[in-house]
Amino acid sequence: MSSSAPIGVFDSGLGGISVAREIAKDMPAEHVLYFGDSANAPYGVKTPEQVKALSFDIVERFVEHGVKAVVIACNTATSAAVNDLREHYDIPIIGMEPALKVACDRGDAPLGQQHIPQRVIVAATPLTLRERKFAELMKRFDSDNTIFKEPCPDLVEIVESGQLGNHDLVMRTLHHYFDRYDLDRIDSVVLGCTHFVFYRDYFRELLPKHAAIIDGNEGTVRHLGVVLESLGKLAPEDALGRVEISNSDPSERIAKLSHNLLSA
Ligand code: DGL
Repeated sequence: MSSSAPIGVFDSGLGGISVAREIAKDMPAEHVLYFGDSANAPYGVKTPEQVKALSFDIVERFVEHGVKAVVIACNTATSAAVNDLREHYDIPIIGMEPALKVACDRGDAPLGQQHIPQRVIVAATPLTLRERKFAELMKRFDSDNTIFKEPCPDLVEIVESGQLGNHDLVMRTLHHYFDRYDLDRIDSVVLGCTHFVFYRDYFRELLPKHAAIIDGNEGTVRHLGVVLESLGKLAPEDALGRVEISNSDPSERIAKLSHNLLSA
């Protein structure tokens, strides 16, 4: 595969566009083929087997298109399928997981001083929070920190149905999920689902100033860059990159929403 081959990026729907947008910003020479599976969204309430089968179908099509790497721009599909996909394909497969490490590391004090325990809410899909991958991640951090798991499936639906601009609906939904916490005592909220990255401003409105809002997009794109560079597969610097979007839901509505989110 040549370095000017495209990168395949996929999600259950529109959430992964937040990752494609980050790739376009940080690696403007890259050609991204984005696939959103909105006809089958949401993934977060499906079984791991269903999500695995859908993910394999998408990656198979990417491989037919000659991609040089795949980014699973979906925490849920990563939980269900990343290990099997890596075993099956010999191109780099970059996955995502809730950025819990970044949140907990905020409590690390300078050398010799004690870690300040962090109180962290991880907002993600029910499947991500239920899977073994997240349990293992949590095990690394929960002895030194307090971690709350908050499944927020409605936040996926709001993006998919084009209601992200409905301030009342979004704030009502956030209050529904987060009013049970004493938010003044929360150090950070991890956006462990790529759809939730589009809610950053709403979370800012909900949370007290001191609370950080953390997502894994930047880290994922940095990692993608490191992997491609190590393989000599970064696109030539003078190449004119672009993001091409397709979706299993062929409607005009989804196409329009996708392009709006890409330039949001
Ligand atoms: N955007 C996805 C994630 O990062 C999944 C949303 C869904 O389909 O439930 O987990």
